[in-house]
Amino acid sequence: MAKYSPYESGQDPLSPNRNLSPITSEIDGHGRMLVGGCLLSELADRYGTPLYVLDEATLRAACCAYRNALDKYYGGESLALYASKANSSLVLSSIIASEGMGLDAVSEGELLTALKGGVPGSKIVLHGNNKSDQELCFAYQNGVTIVIDNQHDIDRLSEMIPQGKRPANLMLRFTPGIECHTHEYIRTGHLDSKFGFDLDQLEKVLLQLRSSSWAKLNGLHAHIGSQIFELEPHRDLAAVMADALKLARELGHPVEDLNVGGGLGVKYVESDDPPSIEEWVKGIAEAVTEACEVRKLVLPRLICEPGRSLVATSGITLYRVGSQKKIPGIRKYLSIDGGMSDNPRPITYESKYTACLVDRPLSSAEEIVTIAGKHCESGDVLLKDLPLPYCRSGEVIGVFGTGAYNSSMSSNYNRIPRPAAVVVNCGQADLVQRRERPEDLLRFDVLPDRFVELG
Ligand code: LLP
Repeated sequence: MAKYSPYESGQDPLSPNRNLSPITSEIDGHGRMLVGGCLLSELADRYGTPLYVLDEATLRAACCAYRNALDKYYGGESLALYASKANSSLVLSSIIASEGMGLDAVSEGELLTALKGGVPGSKIVLHGNNKSDQELCFAYQNGVTIVIDNQHDIDRLSEMIPQGKRPANLMLRFTPGIECHTHEYIRTGHLDSKFGFDLDQLEKVLLQLRSSSWAKLNGLHAHIGSQIFELEPHRDLAAVMADALKLARELGHPVEDLNVGGGLGVKYVESDDPPSIEEWVKGIAEAVTEACEVRKLVLPRLICEPGRSLVATSGITLYRVGSQKKIPGIRKYLSIDGGMSDNPRPITYESKYTACLVDRPLSSAEEIVTIAGKHCESGDVLLKDLPLPYCRSGEVIGVFGTGAYNSSMSSNYNRIPRPAAVVVNCGQADLVQRRERPEDLLRFDVLPDRFVELG
């Protein structure tokens, strides 16, 4: 039976998005797996399961790869922003700040987490297709760049910022007519997207902003999708954005920033083969440079907004296997102590993952199993058809590539508490998110007196 282990030698240490497991993965003399110098099964014993584990070295290597590639391939200024929707926490904000990067937030919660974690407001952008007045106000007060997504943003801000006050720093988001379905893309004139202005509305909006004293338009933004393995759509995007940049500058906006969004894919299963961070940045940097040269434009500051490719493969979730059910001739289920509430991606997008028994990742597989979550929902399955050695109840299974869009999309479905999270580095593990307790889930419940009397 095929070996099915996320542990690989010969990893790409410079581009963590191309590996299944964190770059610090090792096997000790007993055949057990360590990450960040910490034995995974020992982390499970110490902190309980499910447990989100984040490898600091992998995350920092990805940050470094974006920074170095931007410096190497782009002649102008540049900045990588972390799309914090992928995983938002104080510790991540603080690591991002220490790496000199900026951050993309989409709510007051993400903004607050970024600011409290040490990311300066001047390096944060606020996105959103329906920002509340409170979110706009909070962003403005903290010097955050606001990405104008629609007319409603313009109307609300023009009403909120009094005459004579400091103008708001703005970026303008438009839909570039490039649509990606992960492994293929199309170009259309219009896109069925809830985000951003249509290209043909751009001139009118630029004119409107020019006559708005509260507005200072610094940048243009577009984002074409996520988990993308092709470079071509990003190259096409550069030309569309350069046209928009030219128009904005001709209309008198001293626009300096061109924000090309995120989207670089990561390796979740063996067959995934995304480009490296360096290749992605190189492709975009060259395309933007060429598009600007052709149009005789002074190079803008190049901004990108990676989320998944920065954090996904630094994360592993540890679970303990509990009950087992064999349906002869059909399937064997191994049930774990978490599931769709800590990783909603399989049930939401049919996403695939890789996993292993962390104390014997290299043992030969003996059977094919399905890893089921503990929620009251038949579709709560994290992995289908996973080759594993015969597994005893109580063994710890590690699911790889869970650093992005797991914790940030988690829920309390079935009133199951969220897992704890630890960051590991050089043999040290630090708790960065406490495990919720069932009592925590009652924190915001209110039982009005008349119901208490009934009880
Ligand atoms: N910038 C903008 C404006 C975005 O909307 C996104 C992702 C990013 C940057 C970061 O994209 P990334 O580098 O992570 O691909 N929940 C889904 C992914 C949703 C992505 C939403 N926007 C998932 O779990 O696959």
